[in-house]
Amino acid sequence: MIEIKRPEEIGRMRRSGRVAAQVLAAVREHVKPGITTQELDDVAKEMIRKLGARSAFLNYRGYPRYICVSINEEVVHGIPGTRRIKEGDIVSIDVGVVCDGYIGDNAATVAVGKVDPEILRLVRTTEEALYAAIDRIRPGRRLGEVGYAIETTARRAGFSVVREFVGHGVGRHLHEDPQVPNFGPPESGPVLVEGMTLAIEPMLNLGSDAVVVKEDGWTAVTADGSPSAHFEHTVVVSSGVAEILTCAGKK
Ligand code: MF3
Ligand code: CO
Repeated sequence: MIEIKRPEEIGRMRRSGRVAAQVLAAVREHVKPGITTQELDDVAKEMIRKLGARSAFLNYRGYPRYICVSINEEVVHGIPGTRRIKEGDIVSIDVGVVCDGYIGDNAATVAVGKVDPEILRLVRTTEEALYAAIDRIRPGRRLGEVGYAIETTARRAGFSVVREFVGHGVGRHLHEDPQVPNFGPPESGPVLVEGMTLAIEPMLNLGSDAVVVKEDGWTAVTADGSPSAHFEHTVVVSSGVAEILTCAGKK
């Protein structure tokens, strides 16, 4: 069942969205050669505490850290640990927080120093795909427009779209209905209604779309070892264009 949020709930989600974005911004600033992914998790932990929130990921189905950090061939759900970031890496940071019972979920891929131009193009295209998808959201349109916009943007640029992981409804729970695939025909899926809150999260690969999950049970990597990028925003379907809730600025 897709829940339609009341205005008061959307107000709370604006807050959690802002906090999620502020934490993501803080972590991004620390992404530099030499830092370990655990140190990035520590930055997130401290910032989340300071802002009076909780991690939406910690202990979710046994997930052991505050955020996810996925480097290069890692697609999503990288567990922070001893791996050190180096020049030329791309680093995907995924942050979900709970604030006052409601969740904000967002992610971005950061290029570290001088990155191969083709990989940089992958990162930029993935972000572009996210915004192309958000641009299609209107009440009365179908959710398939989102996946169609993402897949079209990826294809045109020559990249593949990960199919094993999808976006999702979000609110009191991290994963609510509906699932939001990053592919498929525009005339598919439920009709969008004002007050639906969605996490839109395209994952694009430089090579094939196939992914495998590592022995740690979480880290998803590309099957061919090619780099992968990931961007995510939490949005609310509104009367005109969708409102992006995961904005660090005021509001
Ligand atoms: N943004 C991801 C998602 O919505 C992050 C989940 S990480 C987990 O699926 F640890 F919480 F699973
Ligand atoms: Co998500």
